[in-house]
Amino acid sequence: MPDNRVVVYKSPGEVAVESIDYPKLELPGDVVEGLGIKKKAPHAAILKIVTTNICGSDQHMVRGRTTAPVGQSLGHEITGEVVEAGEDVLFVNQGDICSVPFNIACGRCRMCNEGKTGICLNVNPARPGAAYGYVDMGGWIGGQAEYVMVPFADFNLLKFPDRDQALEKIRDLTMLSDIFPTGYHGAYTAGVSTGSTVYVAGAGPVGLAAAHAAQLLGASAVIVGDMIPERLGQARSFGCETVDLRNDAPLADMIEQIVGEPEVDAAVDAVGFEARGHGKDAGEQPATVLNDVMGIARAGASLGIPGLYVTGDPGAPDENAKVGQLGVRIGLGWAKSHSMTTGQCPVKQYNRKLMNMILSGKADIAKAVNATTISLDEAPQGYQEFDSGVARKFVIDPHGMAPAA
Ligand SMILES: NC(=O)c1ccc[n+]([C@@H]2O[C@H](COP(=O)([O-])OP(=O)(O)OC[C@H]3O[C@@H](n4cnc5c(N)ncnc54)[C@H](O)[C@@H]3O)[C@@H](O)[C@H]2O)c1
Ligand SMILES: [Zn+2]
Ligand SMILES: [Zn+2]
Repeated sequence: MPDNRVVVYKSPGEVAVESIDYPKLELPGDVVEGLGIKKKAPHAAILKIVTTNICGSDQHMVRGRTTAPVGQSLGHEITGEVVEAGEDVLFVNQGDICSVPFNIACGRCRMCNEGKTGICLNVNPARPGAAYGYVDMGGWIGGQAEYVMVPFADFNLLKFPDRDQALEKIRDLTMLSDIFPTGYHGAYTAGVSTGSTVYVAGAGPVGLAAAHAAQLLGASAVIVGDMIPERLGQARSFGCETVDLRNDAPLADMIEQIVGEPEVDAAVDAVGFEARGHGKDAGEQPATVLNDVMGIARAGASLGIPGLYVTGDPGAPDENAKVGQLGVRIGLGWAKSHSMTTGQCPVKQYNRKLMNMILSGKADIAKAVNATTISLDEAPQGYQEFDSGVARKFVIDPHGMAPAA
């Protein structure tokens, strides 16, 4: 039986690749004990991982900004080849190459039946919703690894139609496990449609994916804001306008210079709780982006908030923020009749159609986020570079299966 190796969190700023057991068709202890579900998982499959990406969500843990314990296994953006399917798996087979939504979902509960797979009730005793390799998310083993177990495989796996085509397009298809659907969810729930003017806060991979999604939805102008020039350059490389938030000018003024009025039709927060304030040397101000999007979205707008907010942040700048209580100017949002969509992206609502956009050549997500392939042993370096703010989305290729770019 092959061994397995996985990326684990060691200390703030440090990850390592360590050996762990080869996965079994069994549910994690937390889920079994906490929810009283059978350990044996004939509904699960084991995947040999083709690609698995590093995410800004991993960085929150690796920066020590969550309650993740040392030894937490990492990785929730998984694409893999089925190497073993349990006896209750009917519709995926050995050799199929599949995208794995980062949300783990049972396919059998009330939430799953409503398509709300980000808040499945049967996969995490602590709260609704689970993910691979994430703190407070059910104790599922991470997928920045060689092999991983995927439960409820018929429900969770999205099979690619053709193996050769899948490998050829893998740098795009690997984004279906999280950031492409998540960015799309941000733009879609912000109500972007033909002709919309859109502001996307954050030029990290999720912000760039939201910007590309807004283009696919027909936006007339997509403005991306960040304070990292290289990332803003990446946004411009595929046709976005940008605002540099190191400037002291009010955001509304910078937006007015681009679209002729100091507001937009739709706004997306692709930053989350580690947001920085505007201006040259501003420190962290966790509510900045929430206040920005309420400030510049027109009355009646919807706000897409895929940026992550936590209930426990040991490194928060003040006591309130340590429990996720932020200085949000809700009075302004209320006065403007805003609505907002928060939470995990329900990946399954979007991944099949976005796969079709990739396979038909209509979406260029790998180019938009500058997908960069590395080996599993290079993961620690990938984490460091990503944290330094480079304009890259790191894609780990543990078995050397992805063709050269
Ligand atoms: N909801 C979901 O399902 C989901 C899924 C994936 C990621 N996320 C979250 O989305 C967020 C973005 O992910 P990412 O991988 O792009 O992370 P990232 O850390 O690479 O990017 C965040 C970017 O925001 C910029 N930023 C900081 N303060 C800002 C401000 N005030 N205005 C504008 N930009 C600012 C940073 O410079 C950085 O470039 C993270 O919080 C991540 O956890 C959520
Ligand atoms: Zn992710
Ligand atoms: Zn469920």
